[in-house]
Amino acid sequence: MPSYQSVVVLTGAGISAESGIRTFRASDGLWEEHRIEDVATPDGFRRNPTLVHDFYNARRQKLLSPEITYNAAHKALAAFEQRFSGQYLLVTQNIDDLHERAGSQQVVHMHGELLKSRCEGCGEIFSYLEDLQMTTPCPCCQLSGHLRPHIVWFNEIPLALDAIYSALTSCDLFVAIGTSGNVYPAAGFFQEASHHGAHTVELNLEPSVSGSLFKEQHYGPASEVVPRFFAEIA
Ligand code: NAD
Ligand code: APR
Repeated sequence: MPSYQSVVVLTGAGISAESGIRTFRASDGLWEEHRIEDVATPDGFRRNPTLVHDFYNARRQKLLSPEITYNAAHKALAAFEQRFSGQYLLVTQNIDDLHERAGSQQVVHMHGELLKSRCEGCGEIFSYLEDLQMTTPCPCCQLSGHLRPHIVWFNEIPLALDAIYSALTSCDLFVAIGTSGNVYPAAGFFQEASHHGAHTVELNLEPSVSGSLFKEQHYGPASEVVPRFFAEIA
């Protein structure tokens, strides 16, 4: 059983696919139905804020519906965090809260969180489970017309990059789970970790764009490959 001192895990939409949340780039993925430029860019939001709010309101309602629950892959990561005595960082590109629901304690949401909103007027970030409209007043400064989903859109800078790169330079194991490797900077994390000496592992349904460059790969549904992989490391 390999023994590691410092582990960084990166998750993407694939880990939540078996929980009923659609991925982005599959043939039935979200980006087949919606233009990124319209619903996931600052310019799109400026042009048509109602369309953008409707897109995220629908995704939030889906996430909060009773049929959405965490799966065995989320659970395996939470169990690993609990028993692992070394350094551990879970970085997710996902905006859902399924890692937290499964019991993960330290989760960095580098692309933001669907259940949070942010006021572009006063800068406050807060939990918000209701539908957002342009007329919704900020609970903090009371101004309306300034609330937006707390989501990192294209052409915006992902969150917590300093903490992430610091962990990547010192980890001895990097594991990417359920991500297609299309979106930077997350798609380059394995190379950063590898450059600093980490063992790199891809766990995915199928090879990602850079799958062959990882040192180890396991392919199959996350609910199977993730529990199996993490049961074998200490
Ligand atoms: P991009 O290349 O346009 O933007 C990334 C930005 O981050 C660039 O401005 C780049 O200079 C900056 N950057 C990169 N590394 C940095 C570092 N170490 N320190 C500071 N700045 C750094 O990338 P993109 O593909 O357009 O995506 C932007 C982000 O928005 C991505 O992370 C993407 O996944 C995210 N996004 C999220 C959603 C969502 O719905 N959750 C949708 C679309 C995009
Ligand atoms: N188990 C494991 N992997 C799976 C499963 C599953 N059950 N189902 C799908 N996958 C894999 C797919 O094969 C694909 O490689 O998950 C990956 C999902 O890729 P994307 O849809 O591109 O999602 P992701 O990589 O998370 O996207 C990155 O792009 O649009 C932005 O901000 C958005 O955070 C997102 C970022």
